[in-house]
Amino acid sequence: MKRRRRGKIIAIDGPAGVGKSTVGRLVAAKLGYDFINTGEMFRALTWKALSSGVEVSDFPAVAALACRLRWEFRPTPDRTLKTFIDGENAAPYLREERVSSNSSAVAANPEVRRFMCRLQRRLGGAGEIVMEGRDIGTHVFPDADHKIYLDADIDERARRRYRQLKASGARAHLGAVREAMLTRDLNDLKRKINPLSQAADAVVVDSTHLTLHEVADKIVRMVRARRQRRDGSR
Ligand code: DC
Repeated sequence: MKRRRRGKIIAIDGPAGVGKSTVGRLVAAKLGYDFINTGEMFRALTWKALSSGVEVSDFPAVAALACRLRWEFRPTPDRTLKTFIDGENAAPYLREERVSSNSSAVAANPEVRRFMCRLQRRLGGAGEIVMEGRDIGTHVFPDADHKIYLDADIDERARRRYRQLKASGARAHLGAVREAMLTRDLNDLKRKINPLSQAADAVVVDSTHLTLHEVADKIVRMVRARRQRRDGSR
C-alpha cells in the first residue's frame, strides 16, 4: 500500500556519469520539487571517514561513524538539498579524488546502506522530491510514483565527466576517466547489497544522443502525461 504523501516521488537511477544529477535538478526545478543526489551522502561519509582516520574497509567503524554524525540536508534557493555534517557543508570535499575512489567501499557497507536508506526515506517520505542514486527505485522507494533508469554509452559518459572535470579546473585524462568509470560501474553492479539494477517497472531513458535538457523535458512530459491520464480517468 502507498504511504500518504503530499506529492510524488521521482526516482532516477543509473550508472556513474550518466547525467542523473543535472537531469534530476532540472526535472525538480520544472515541477517545483526538492532534489537530492544520494551519492553525495555516501561521499560525505567517505570524506568524514578519511579525515578522521577511519579505514573505509573497517565496516563496523564506518557504520558507527555514520551514526555519530549529525546529518542535515539544507535546501539551496533552487531546492537542491545539500549535505551538512555536524554543521559543516560537505560540498567542497565531495569531488576530491580520494573521496571518489573510496566511496564504493563505503557504499558496499551493509550497515551504512541501511542507515542511508532510513535517512533517504525520511527525506523523501512526504513526496514532492526527485531523488537520484543507484537503488532508489529498486530498494529505497520501490513504490515511487515514477522510476527512471537513465543510461548512456560508456564513451559518452566518460566524455561528459572529462568535460566537467576540465571545466572545474581539474587535470584530467579521458582514458583514465573512462577506466575509473568502468571500475566504479563494476563495483556498483557486483555489490552484494542493493547493487545498481534496473527496476522492472522503470522507464529506461538513453541519454547518449540527447542533451541533458532534452532528457529532463522528456521526463517532465512523461510525469505530466501520466498526471493528465490519471486526472482524466477520475
Ligand atoms: O553517484 P556518485 O558517483 O556520486 O556516488 C558515490 C558512490 O555512492 C558510488 O560508489 C555509488 C554509491 N551510491 C550508491 O551505492 N547508492 C546510491 N543511492 C547512490 C550512490
